[in-house]
Order: sequence, then C-alpha cells, then structure tokens
Amino acid sequence: MNIPQLQIAHMVPRVPIIQGGMGVAISLSGLAAAVANAGGIGIISGTGISIDEMIAHIRRAREMTNGKGYIGVNVLFAMNDFAEKIKAAMQEKVDFIISGAGFSRDMYAWGREYGIPVISIVSSAKLAKLAERLGASAVVVEGFEAGGHLGTDRPLFDILPEVIEAVTIPVVAAGGILTGKDVSLAIRMGAVGVQMGTRFVASEECDAPLSFKQKYVDCQEGDTVLVKTTVGLQGRAIRNNFTKVIEGDKKRKIEKCHDCLKNCSYRFCTLESLLMSVNGDVENGLVFAGSRVAEIKEILPVQVIINTIMDEYYAAGIAAEQAF
Ligand SMILES: Cc1cc2nc3c(=O)[nH]c(=O)nc-3n(C[C@H](O)[C@H](O)[C@H](O)COP(=O)(O)O)c2cc1C
Repeated sequence: MNIPQLQIAHMVPRVPIIQGGMGVAISLSGLAAAVANAGGIGIISGTGISIDEMIAHIRRAREMTNGKGYIGVNVLFAMNDFAEKIKAAMQEKVDFIISGAGFSRDMYAWGREYGIPVISIVSSAKLAKLAERLGASAVVVEGFEAGGHLGTDRPLFDILPEVIEAVTIPVVAAGGILTGKDVSLAIRMGAVGVQMGTRFVASEECDAPLSFKQKYVDCQEGDTVLVKTTVGLQGRAIRNNFTKVIEGDKKRKIEKCHDCLKNCSYRFCTLESLLMSVNGDVENGLVFAGSRVAEIKEILPVQVIINTIMDEYYAAGIAAEQAF
C-alpha cells in the first residue's frame, strides 16, 4: 500500500504526519523542528508564552530546519491575545496558522491579507463546512480520544467519514492516533494524513521537562480523566492531585490572575496549572494527555517514532491487501 501524498496549500511533506500544537510550552521550536526534519509538519504553540518568545521560537525552528521544513503556529482561540499572536506569526511568514478550540471569521481574512494558509480544528461536519466556506486550506477533525481541550464526546472514526463526506478540502484525522495501523485506517477512510500530540510528548526533542514525559510513560490504563477547565470546555488529562482538587465544581485559589482568557470561569487558573506542570510539578499541575497515553512505554527520538509509524503503516497495508 503506497502512501498518498499529503498536500495542504504549498506543503508537501515526506510523511503525512502533523505534530499537534501543544500549549503551554510543550510544543516549541525543539519538537516542531524535529518533526519537520523527520519529514512531517511541526507546530509551535504560541499559547501561554509571550509574543517575543513565540517569534524567537519561530526563528529558531527555521534555523534548526535550515528553512526547509514546514512549521505552523497554533494559538488557543479562547486567549485574549489570540489576534495579536496570529498576526505576529503571519508576519513571520510561518507556513500556516491553526487555531485551537474554536475559530473566527477574522483569521481567514488575516490569512488572505498576509498570504498564509489557515487550518481549523473541527469536531463535526457542520463546523468543517463552515471552515471550508470561510476559506480553510484544510481541516483537522479531532475526536474525543485527543489530549487537551475537546470539542466533542464522539470517537474520531465516527466523525471522520461525516467530515470527509461534507467537505472538498483536505481532511486530517486527530485523536487517539498512535500507530501506523491507525494512520492506515484513517487514510483508507479518506483522510490525507493525521495529527498526533500525545505520542510526540514522549519524545526526546519535546520541549516539556523530563518529569512531564515520565508522567506519560508511567501512566496506566484508566489513568486519564476529563476535567472542565476555565475555558469552558472539557479537557483530557492525567489523573493526579490537581484533578482531585478541582473535581466536580471544586475551586482552587488563583494566586495571580493573568487576565488571559476572553471568558474565564475563575474556578481555578488553567494557565497557572499548565505552567506548574511544565515547571516540573506534575502532581499539582494540569497534565493534558490523550486517551491512549498508557500504551506509550518509552521516550524516543522523533525520527524513531516516525520511522516506526511508517513501518507499521506499510505492514498494515500489506496485511489489509492480503486479507482482501
Ligand atoms: C499536552 C497536550 C497539550 C495540547 N494543547 C493543545 C493546544 O494548546 N491547542 C490545540 O489546538 N490542541 C492542543 N492539544 C491537542 C493536539 O494538538 C492534538 O490535536 C491531539 O493531541 C491529538 O490527539 P492525541 O493526543 O491522541 O494524539 C494538546 C494535546 C496535548 C496532549
């Protein structure tokens, strides 16, 4: 089974794998450049870092890839500085922009103004159609298996065929993709490629600290829970002291409000909780992770992860052809 060429706007990566944008400070230049160098598409998350830091990471990633790999920027739509960050990334001429947990009409207009492709993450055929109408170059359809904030309670492979049927732009599958067999299934269903987050966190090049990656590797089946963050969405995270403290409607004192969200419930501080975990306190901080995190047993170099996935992909294709 040959691998179809993923093409989104001007991008034609060697492998049809996009590394999902992961805030806060999980996917920066280190991870994004490693994925781009391994033939995929890297994404720097601009969420929870300053504009200057984001620009520095975009430039560093360009240096690390000798200007050859494809690097995009993801910013959480719920953040107050969303517009400012997206425009700053566009001025830096990133390969594309992708918004997390929502999108607006404006970002497509900015994309046209700066000549930068815009991709949207959607969790239904209805939103995919809207994104296409507004001018999206592609959509990433994310199922409830994904780590981070979620837009649905439905599994990826239930939503994927509906989205593929609804739009003519490229569709990328995300949420619970871990092996080449998963990639093979997504592509056979009509996706042009996949977006993966969780598997890339447990990589040597991921920008998160070792304690965060180790938390992934130590995870057992059933260790993820859904938490309602102050963004107003459910998010999938690893069960720890933090998830116990904020269980149900319980609150945790906000030490210092950063006034970072357009609409905040103020039940606790999502940003502080995420910063706490990337600063090494993975018990009292929020550790987002996908539903299949327990299957990850090792922290590996990105190139090894991608090679393994591609080997599994070809093996899955041969198995499917033989079964036929
Ligand atoms: C630690 C972590 C942080 C994430 N942060 C964001 C984010 O800031 N913005 C976003 O759009 N998606 C975010 N995601 C979702 C990923 O970009 C990706 O779509 C998702 O991880 C795919 O599912 P998987 O984790 O099962 O591979 C995050 C995921 C993880 C695991």
